[in-house]
Amino acid sequence: MNQEFTLNAMRTIVCQDAQGAAKTVAGLIADQVRQNPKSVLGLATGGTPVATYQVLIEMARRGEVDFRQVTSFNLDEYIGLAGDHPQSFRAFMDEQLFGQINIPIEQTFVPDGCASDIDASCARYEAMIRDAGGIDMQLLGIGHNGHIAFNEPGSEFDSRTRQVELTAETIDKNARFFDSPDQVPRHAITMGIATILDARQIVLLATGAGKADAVRNMLAGPVVAAHPASLLRNHSHVTVVLDPPAAAAVTELQQ
Ligand code: F6R
Repeated sequence: MNQEFTLNAMRTIVCQDAQGAAKTVAGLIADQVRQNPKSVLGLATGGTPVATYQVLIEMARRGEVDFRQVTSFNLDEYIGLAGDHPQSFRAFMDEQLFGQINIPIEQTFVPDGCASDIDASCARYEAMIRDAGGIDMQLLGIGHNGHIAFNEPGSEFDSRTRQVELTAETIDKNARFFDSPDQVPRHAITMGIATILDARQIVLLATGAGKADAVRNMLAGPVVAAHPASLLRNHSHVTVVLDPPAAAAVTELQQ
């Protein structure tokens, strides 16, 4: 049985385990797409959403959800990695989701990490999201340091899609996807906090004990740029989905 409560106006669902959390998030995304087959989804990479994408792929295979008319925008991309680089977020999405469902690839967008004019390319990405009608549902993970997308601590409330420098901690955490830490790009393109807050609905998924402090700061700490995920408390339609280890520091607050 899921446990559900509201903390500082954020709907929080604690599932039985990480797989239950993946099913819950996949269910929210599938409901969104069933309700509006032309939904615009905001998608995330990283380890956390992989199980959710797997559930969506299985649902799509069973004919329970149809992605043909969906448009998607990913949160971020490393600067310097082309879409065909195996560690690029574009390659990750093609492999983990897009290549296994019926979304037309031309309706999927990931920032261009190899654009010759990064600033112009970021401005274009914002315009493309606007032209698509805005994001209906944005899926997020959370960094150990509270980052959302690659909005590292200190990212401002009004930030938009832009080039950022990754923190040493983020480089270190993401080194597991590369052969060695020095292969991790130092810069990335990320949607900004304001870009994310423009989404009509936000679903944040966090699993594992390593995320417990970040989850607590998001839900119960001060709303400050030093903890970017806390800025989500300025949005009126956020659902936080957790497994028990990620929820440990907030379930204590409930008791
Ligand atoms: C991914 C992203 C990041 C991750 C976060 C957690 O597109 O924007 O903010 O959501 O770093 O990563 P994992 O899931 O690997 O722990």
